[in-house]
Amino acid sequence: MRKKSISFIFASLCLWGVITYFLFLDRPIGREYNKDNIEGQIDDIEKKVKQQFAENKKFIQALKHNLKDQKKSKDAISAILVQNLDNNEPAKELVDKMDRQPRPIPDQEKNRKVDEIKHTVSDKFLPNGNPVIAVLVFSCNRITVQRCLDQLISLRPSAEQFPIIVSQDCDHEPTSTIIQSYGEQITHIRQPDQRDIDVPPKEKKFKGYFKIARHYGWALNQVFLEFGYETAIVVEDDLDVAPDFFEYFSGTYPLLMRDSTLWCISAWNDNGKSELIDENGHDLLYRTDFFPGLGWMLTKDTWMELGPKWPKSYWDDWIRKPEQRKDRACIRPELSRTMTFGKIGVSNGLFFEKHLRFIKLNDVFVPFTKMNLTYLLKDNYDMAFVNEVYRSRVVNYTELKKDAIQNPGPVRITYHTRQAYKNTAKMLGLMDDFRSGVPRTSYRGVVTFFYKGRRVHLAPNANWAGYDITWS
Ligand SMILES: *[C@@H]1O[C@H](CO)[C@@H](O)[C@H](O)[C@H]1NC(C)=O
Ligand SMILES: *[C@@H]1O[C@H](CO)[C@@H](O)[C@H](O)[C@H]1NC(C)=O
Repeated sequence: MRKKSISFIFASLCLWGVITYFLFLDRPIGREYNKDNIEGQIDDIEKKVKQQFAENKKFIQALKHNLKDQKKSKDAISAILVQNLDNNEPAKELVDKMDRQPRPIPDQEKNRKVDEIKHTVSDKFLPNGNPVIAVLVFSCNRITVQRCLDQLISLRPSAEQFPIIVSQDCDHEPTSTIIQSYGEQITHIRQPDQRDIDVPPKEKKFKGYFKIARHYGWALNQVFLEFGYETAIVVEDDLDVAPDFFEYFSGTYPLLMRDSTLWCISAWNDNGKSELIDENGHDLLYRTDFFPGLGWMLTKDTWMELGPKWPKSYWDDWIRKPEQRKDRACIRPELSRTMTFGKIGVSNGLFFEKHLRFIKLNDVFVPFTKMNLTYLLKDNYDMAFVNEVYRSRVVNYTELKKDAIQNPGPVRITYHTRQAYKNTAKMLGLMDDFRSGVPRTSYRGVVTFFYKGRRVHLAPNANWAGYDITWS
């Protein structure tokens, strides 16, 4: 394929050289017809054409070199993958996985349209082998986007590796001015469709959610199809980020590439309040069936699947439905790597006051890229997780609350019904809601947290058969 395109470029350049040669020949050269003069000029042209040929050759060589570099960086990344994940798997297999084709897309007809959008292909990896990951910041009419951008810019290890794209809806001038003030440090794009949205009368007060979904759909298409990035981190304009925010996503990137049962890496722990986490567990990561959002990374493949059927509103609940999730999980941390500093606008202010503002933001840098994270791959994780959960001693809420458990080690509180789950969750201060039957942070029905110095699993029976979508 590459060889063919090189030959094609070479042939085109040769042809162009020849055409130029003859064009020069045909051109009337002077008012006076002077044979010697013409011959001199032909010599000149010949020289120029030869020069051109030499330059073309150089160009082709540079091109070849470039392609070799790309291959080299691919080899480098596979080496890094091996290093980061485990040393057992042959490098070739990892490279093959990097080369894997996008998953088959169900609705061919709809996708054709998306495919038709012209896109520029960005490099997937830097020459040093680091993956390029776009950071998409959603903005509308809050000038506090400045706080978020200042942090992202000062924390990112490299502007080439983490290009920041600020997508703005709403045409709010003061916000635009602030975004513009960052100049070349970021790319500012604006959602062009500012028409009013026709919202069913019953949902008038939720119009904001329709606008958000429209904005998300447009901006993610920009990032993946127009800019051509392969991976992106989605951030909103009201987020503070942890010092190891970028390190967290770099370190978990190989997991997202390698494990097709993962579809997102999230920076957020829904139960990340101080009383419910191990505050020394900076490096602890988990799988979760619940899509957390609030600072999350996805691949272009996933977007190619979701984009064509993107909903008109409430995209986050939509994405949590079984038709979209398809049993895939996300990675989430014990200590959140993002934190909302307050939402004014569409989102529920009460929710912020009651929950979000108590989430603890991690403040210790964890070198995730240098850690062995293979334990998070499904095959390794599920076995160990099920083992730990179902071997742990069963206790009841009263014992736990009174701190009356003698033995150290993790414990388990069981639940069998929706109501029992909600009651226990409420008493412990956990989030007690479900989305498509999945409790927040749950993995295989188990909500894992930390309470009075002890790991606790709020868990269904060991013979659990899957989520009950009617639980809400
Ligand atoms: C990484 O951890 C896995 C267990 O999850 C282990 O089998 C593997 O050998 C480790 N790799 C390295 C390089 O330590
Ligand atoms: C909790 O467990 C303790 C010890 O097994 C027991 O004495 C107590 O009655 C239990 N409480 C409830 C509410 O089941």
